[in-house]
Amino acid sequence: MNQPNNPKVLPAANRRRFIQVAGAASALGTLAVPRVHAKQGDGTIQVALVGCGGRGTGAAADALYVTNAPLKLVAMADVFEQRLAGSHRNLSQVFQQTPEKVDVPKERQFVGFDAYKKAMDCLNKGDIVIFATPLAFRWVHYTYAIERGLNVFMEKPVIADGPSAKRMLELAKKADEKNLKCGVGLMVRHCRGRQELHQRIQDGEIGDIVCMRAYRMHGPVASAFSVRNPGKPEVMYQIERFHSFIWASGGLFSDFYIHQIDETSWMKNSWPVKAQALGGRHYRGDYIDQNFDTYAVEYTYNDGSKLFFDGRTMVGCRNDMSSVVHGSKGSAIVSTSGHYPGKVRTFKGQNQDNESVAWAFPQPETSPYRLEWQDLVEAIINDTPYNEVPRGVEASLVTSMGRMAAHTGQEITYEQMKECPHEFAPGVAEMTENGPAPVMPDSDGRYPIPEPGKNRDVEYKA
Ligand SMILES: NC(=O)c1ccc[n+]([C@@H]2O[C@H](COP(=O)([O-])OP(=O)(O)OC[C@H]3O[C@@H](n4cnc5c(N)ncnc54)[C@H](O)[C@@H]3O)[C@@H](O)[C@H]2O)c1
Repeated sequence: MNQPNNPKVLPAANRRRFIQVAGAASALGTLAVPRVHAKQGDGTIQVALVGCGGRGTGAAADALYVTNAPLKLVAMADVFEQRLAGSHRNLSQVFQQTPEKVDVPKERQFVGFDAYKKAMDCLNKGDIVIFATPLAFRWVHYTYAIERGLNVFMEKPVIADGPSAKRMLELAKKADEKNLKCGVGLMVRHCRGRQELHQRIQDGEIGDIVCMRAYRMHGPVASAFSVRNPGKPEVMYQIERFHSFIWASGGLFSDFYIHQIDETSWMKNSWPVKAQALGGRHYRGDYIDQNFDTYAVEYTYNDGSKLFFDGRTMVGCRNDMSSVVHGSKGSAIVSTSGHYPGKVRTFKGQNQDNESVAWAFPQPETSPYRLEWQDLVEAIINDTPYNEVPRGVEASLVTSMGRMAAHTGQEITYEQMKECPHEFAPGVAEMTENGPAPVMPDSDGRYPIPEPGKNRDVEYKA
């Protein structure tokens, strides 16, 4: 296992709120693939976007805002044409003063399960492709990007099961052999404040870390809670509601919690070796998704120290989205109330009140969503080694380890998670609109849910 250490980094807006993708329909056909020629005299790097939802649109905008090289968007791909159309419209509006940055005519807008190939075929070696689909498609798309000699920015998490983790690690080696750069959307790693905090902790400012706590508690968000499929093609329903399906996203656990499990482990400079966990379904009513609405995980590191992670997706309860580190000489806040701004600080003791603050990162901060792009592009133009995939796989595996512990009711080690043969979507590379889907509903429209203690080796039985 690699240590979750600090990558090489350099130096704006919360991406979730940055762009709302409108759902208006526009007739975008799947047309012939024209090749566009990148690396023009001015050094322009071309970008293709695969997965044109909220994050994909935000990531494309962050890419186009970089200042260390000229980037332009030349191709887009999605399985829903209205998502692509909404994203294209939003980006065109945001960059209306610099329209050359969004150069995606209808001929380079692709819809369907093979759209990713057509979008990448519009690029030249050394250009960048963005993957912002649900994670199930990551290894499929990454395989083609490596074949085409493209640099990649892929969103987190990157895997949800052991077989996909091993596949991604192998692909990362191939990418290295071809000197391809790859960023993974664990943007907190690129936050200047967290980087300084990490250094201060390594320098002993709060002593040895003995315990960490992290919380992600709010009401139902994104597509984590779903009601019965109203009759859409099953595959398309599940992709649209991907936070509801473990094969597509690792469930809300992997999708929402990975950031804080990653950032605390980074501060500890280590990955947890095992996890035990609780979880349950409470006010489920007509919801048919596979998620629990509460999770409590105890992660253990090699030296016996702990990370306690609590996740709750429930209306009417206390909200919290913070990460805290306790050391033998003091303590620190890694995230105050979300990913950005982090408002990191250290404290003289374990009481984290204003009087005890020892150091605080000056405000305002630069958005880590912008910084992760500056760093990736810097590595491309300077040709320095840059591959965040192995670390992204490890963060995704550690997250999955906590999820599996909750879903099975067993203690799960890192090796057990990595070696668990349960592959959630083995046919994902051949997926088509009309199925079959990796999980199917029963006669009540409900999907298999985790049953801790009953299913001890697998998270659910399809
Ligand atoms: N780093 C962050 O803070 C952050 C924030 C939000 C989302 N994300 C990640 O970004 C990814 C997307 O999340 P989102 O919120 O944008 O979801 P979304 O549903 O808004 O967007 C996903 C898009 O991918 C498309 N898609 C699905 N399968 C596809 C395929 N096979 N080929 C092409 N397009 C496909 C969907 O139609 C949709 O338009 C997830 O992995 C999520 O975890 C990261």
